[in-house]
Amino acid sequence: MEKLANTQHEIHPLLKARWSPRAFDSRPLDPSVLPSLFEAARWAPSGGNNQPWAFVVFPADGSEARRQIEDALTGNNREWAPRAPLLVLAVAMPHPRLGTVGPYSYYDLGQAVTQLTVQATALGLFVHQMAGFDADKARQVAGLPDTCEPMVMIAIGHYGDYTHLSEALRERELAPRVRKPLAEFVFHARWGQSLFPAPA
Ligand SMILES: Cc1cc2nc3c(=O)[nH]c(=O)nc-3n(C[C@H](O)[C@H](O)[C@H](O)COP(=O)(O)O)c2cc1C
Repeated sequence: MEKLANTQHEIHPLLKARWSPRAFDSRPLDPSVLPSLFEAARWAPSGGNNQPWAFVVFPADGSEARRQIEDALTGNNREWAPRAPLLVLAVAMPHPRLGTVGPYSYYDLGQAVTQLTVQATALGLFVHQMAGFDADKARQVAGLPDTCEPMVMIAIGHYGDYTHLSEALRERELAPRVRKPLAEFVFHARWGQSLFPAPA
């Protein structure tokens, strides 16, 4: 299903097409797409080129690990995300010199996930990030070192059939996509002075 961004100005078609669905199809991904997704993440910019990210991949292969990572999901993510053929735990890594996860670890991981997302969109796939998971459980299932931090769980797959969703989720699936206007967050030289004021 298309849910094209209703943009105020022209943007790249991939950015316009990307959205975060809940109706995933359980059909497995072509194995050839996996390297492309993570290659795209790999070439994200990062502070000092530290590349403070890692990904733990859980395909829907019937394994105990996949069952346990699904069990780490919380809230209504438990309803829709298990259908996705791929769940990926995105992990922030410590700064190599400081030894701890810092603000740029989070910032850089976010950029890597964005690149993965755009690549997935180019391959006709959909990506839905989730903060709604039990980080301690996910840490344990994935065997993460203490110095790393699990940040988001990412569902990746083909679009499915939204009529399988519960009524509440179906409503959110069909709801229009909204954003703040540029006038609210792009300023000219001084905070609060909009570069793109809303037309009077
Ligand atoms: C850090 C982060 C955490 C999110 N957590 C959840 C989540 O737990 N459950 C969920 O359904 N969506 C989650 N989302 C998806 C957002 O709700 C979604 O990106 C936002 O509503 C904008 O919609 P769009 O991606 O379709 O444009 C998360 C997105 C991000 C970036």
